Amino acid sequence: MLKTFVQLLGEDAPVFRRYAGMAVFYGLLSGLTITTLVPVLQGLLVGDVQAAGRWLLVLLLGMLACWAWRRRVERAGVAVGVAVLQGARHRIGDHVARLPVGWFTPEHTARLSHVITQGMMAVAQLPAHVFTPVISGVVTPLVILVALFVLHPPLGLVALLALPALALVLLLTARLGRRSDALYQHHFAQTSQRLVEFAQAQSVLRAFNGEGGSTRWLEQAIDEQRRSGRDLIFLSSASTVLNAWAVQASFSVLLLVAVGWLNTRLGGALPASDSVAVVVALLLVGRYIEPLLDVAGYSEVMRGARGQLEAVREIFAVAPMPEASAPQAPRDASVELQDVHFRYAADQAEVLRGLSLRIEPGSMTALIGASGSGKTTLVRLIARFFDVEQGSVRVGGVDVRQMSSAQLAAQIGQIFQEHHLFAGSIADNIRVGRADASDAQVLEAAEQAGVGEILARLPQGLQTPVGEGGARLSGGERQRIAIARALIKDAPILLVDEATAALDAENQAAIAQTLARLRGRRTLIVIAHQLSTVAMADQIVVLEDGVVSEQGAPGPLRASAGRYAHFLAQRQAAKGWRVAPDPDADR
Ligand SMILES: Nc1ncnc2c1ncn2[C@@H]1O[C@H](COP(=O)(O)OP(=O)(O)O)[C@@H](O)[C@H]1O
Ligand SMILES: [Mg+2]
Repeated sequence: MLKTFVQLLGEDAPVFRRYAGMAVFYGLLSGLTITTLVPVLQGLLVGDVQAAGRWLLVLLLGMLACWAWRRRVERAGVAVGVAVLQGARHRIGDHVARLPVGWFTPEHTARLSHVITQGMMAVAQLPAHVFTPVISGVVTPLVILVALFVLHPPLGLVALLALPALALVLLLTARLGRRSDALYQHHFAQTSQRLVEFAQAQSVLRAFNGEGGSTRWLEQAIDEQRRSGRDLIFLSSASTVLNAWAVQASFSVLLLVAVGWLNTRLGGALPASDSVAVVVALLLVGRYIEPLLDVAGYSEVMRGARGQLEAVREIFAVAPMPEASAPQAPRDASVELQDVHFRYAADQAEVLRGLSLRIEPGSMTALIGASGSGKTTLVRLIARFFDVEQGSVRVGGVDVRQMSSAQLAAQIGQIFQEHHLFAGSIADNIRVGRADASDAQVLEAAEQAGVGEILARLPQGLQTPVGEGGARLSGGERQRIAIARALIKDAPILLVDEATAALDAENQAAIAQTLARLRGRRTLIVIAHQLSTVAMADQIVVLEDGVVSEQGAPGPLRASAGRYAHFLAQRQAAKGWRVAPDPDADR
């Protein structure tokens, strides 16, 4: 936990070390101050008022010093919190910026935003509000323990033996709490997911189950969540009680030992100094227990913070994309995959299984294949969203791992199905493709991508704000802005994931026009769903189960009565379309 905290602070770690040192010193100081009670009480009990008075002065000075130092510790704790808020977000940001693009799934993105907002807030408050009492709550009793040993060794021994027992109880309750916490989070996530499914699938559910039946499995999830929530509440209150109880129990044992010892000794002739020592030691025991009770009380808060730090640790544990040490520039606009193996996670099956493919500069390639055959994965690997497990992806004859990310980015434009728009104007969003584009160039790209029609409706034209994430535009409008972005970037290679049925005819047309305009001038790699696109390609590549199962020009391929011919027949049957016969294919 401390390791993650220090990692999170990066170059600000000395601020934390300084604070931690100060907090330890505070614990020592208050422990020593409390032990000055010993000579004060001894003086009073044996009637040496002068000595008691002197030590009382020392005690008062000690208390004053403790108070002043505590304020400094608190300020240092706040400084650590500020460092967390200011620096740690940047450090997480810097780390995340070097992660593979493919890491940014909706789940990871949601977790990241949670960590950066709520998580960091909780972590930043830790030093000032939790670490200080916990650190001093451990150090102070240690000092008192030494004093107890000096005063009365048997009591000191019992106090020492109580420590491991206490630690064991605290660890045990923390572990139980962590487990039920994780279980609760799991059920919580499941319920939210079911709720969304439930809302989205209403028509299906009602049609098949009637109104009542449709809520059954949602209720199941809610039930499970309630049950694990109840367990969590029970467990955390039980562990708070148990922790406090363990501390109190060791206190009672200490008392019993002291009283028992006094009893056996009182029969005989007990030297006065001895009984004084025991009485004073008993008072110290109270002081020994109190900070430990504090520590026990904070265990629940610590567990919550630990969860947040764990989430941070997981993010830091993802390895960044390695950057080439001696980057090489690509030589042309070709793309080549050699025996590529790839899987999304170590425990999942291979998605690409030894795929090889060469794409000539300036050619157009249409990728087709059943859903799940690996088309999207293939284009993601070309753009280096991930690194391959085996084999290589070469762009312009150079392995993408041997290029700088800037060099690769300059080679590749993308029109994918999911694109993000930034809260800014339409023009700003198109300029993401090329920051120094002139107004005239932005307008030209917009016109070519079919954004012109959208602009005509908007009084502010290109300067219209798109809203956060493009919220004020429809899906189709966002896609056309993404096309304009790719056009203005004018990279030698363009990757296109042609939209499926979800997009309207105008967007299909906008993509088709773009492809027709760039054909022969750029390397085009298109995941094709429209027959017209497929027919336009120089080369068709059919993917099946992670390998290339067929490859060739449209004409010969259609004639071969293989997968592609089958695909064509299906599409034509489905849409009632016919592709104009290719002169060299028929007969
Ligand atoms: N981000 C991801 N994490 C894990 N598995 C994925 C991810 N994206 C795709 N897959 C899996 O990889 C396989 C190929 O998917 P994909 O490349 O999207 O195929 P296609 O585009 O041909 O439909 C599928 O089995 C899919 O479930
Ligand atoms: Mg796909």
